[in-house]
Amino acid sequence: MKQLKQTFTEIFGAGNTETFFAPGRVNLIGEHTDYNGGHVFPCALNIGTYSVVHKRKDSKVRMYSINFPDIGVVEFDLNHIEYEEAHNWANYPKGVLSVLQQKGYDITQGFDAVFYGNIPNGAGLSSSASIELVTAVMVNDLFGFDIDPLTLVQAAQQAENTFVGVNCGIMDQFSIGFGKENHAILLNCKTLKYTYSPMELGALSLVIANTNKQRGLADSKYNERRGECEQALKDLQQIHKIDHLCDLSLEDFEKSKYLIENPIHRKRAQHVISENERTVMASELLKLGDIQAFGQLINESHQSLKENYEVTGVELDALVEAAWEEGAVGARMTGAGFGGCTVNLIETEKMDAFMAKVAKRYEQTTGLSPAFYPVAIGDGAKKLSE
Ligand code: GLA
Repeated sequence: MKQLKQTFTEIFGAGNTETFFAPGRVNLIGEHTDYNGGHVFPCALNIGTYSVVHKRKDSKVRMYSINFPDIGVVEFDLNHIEYEEAHNWANYPKGVLSVLQQKGYDITQGFDAVFYGNIPNGAGLSSSASIELVTAVMVNDLFGFDIDPLTLVQAAQQAENTFVGVNCGIMDQFSIGFGKENHAILLNCKTLKYTYSPMELGALSLVIANTNKQRGLADSKYNERRGECEQALKDLQQIHKIDHLCDLSLEDFEKSKYLIENPIHRKRAQHVISENERTVMASELLKLGDIQAFGQLINESHQSLKENYEVTGVELDALVEAAWEEGAVGARMTGAGFGGCTVNLIETEKMDAFMAKVAKRYEQTTGLSPAFYPVAIGDGAKKLSE
């Protein structure tokens, strides 16, 4: 925090500033279900993105990120917010400003801001949704708009969809906006109804493992999967009155999957619908304290993402399989896939040995070194007291 303010003063000069924070997120189970009207079960992390800001008198915005010194200070005018390749990371906050303006919020007075994030980029822990939400919360406070959290979350998602051009669902922005310390969130992405579940894991802990493989082609493959789900839905709508794949129970799907002509589309739907049931069941098992059964569903989720949704790849599979072999109660990829991180449920006592052995196996298979981060579940996006 001190360094953040120091950097602010060096670049923009001294003045009264406000500080904001938005976390990253990890999804425990419920992958690729959000844009299919299903459930997800994520939690907010205690790592994330910080911003320090003060208002200007004109309509200019200047932004700097400590993580991207080469990009330098990004400058633009609030009367002309446009996506610019050269603005790189700053397109995320720009997108949020632009969407809020479109919604009718009077953002005409500029500001100077410095950002710093400690979420590994491109690791599937939602560094982009984190910077979107820190911007949304910051602007809301700075201009006294009093916008409700759900509207901020939806504006951030819209920024990603329409300004940045990634057709993501609502999970990342929602979990970052609504996170609660030591709780996971069971969210129904169709109704946006949600409940908090205390994360009581007894003698077990959660640890995130990073494949350190960047998610190449992730965006185009992501949009491709969405398209395949839409095709599967169309086929099922021949006899079912449904709006989303997750409107169908697994039982009804099994009876009518013959309607889906393309075998690839059939596999995609099989994953989505089974994953939705696993997610609801997993949250119930956790509530009952049956952590072993909870872990089993986490393992089944990975298997389905590997075989039916085909979004894992060599590195994610190697890291998850190493975890299984070294006694993880549950291990799976988390986020969109195609690289990024896994989430692991392991005995706290054996954590150190587990990490060392998994790293060794993973290195042998892939030639890459993984990184491990213990999961500490924090609060959603907020203003920090000075
Ligand atoms: C990305 C998207 C989310 C969600 C996950 C997969 O993180 O941003 O909306 O679809 O992938 O579950």
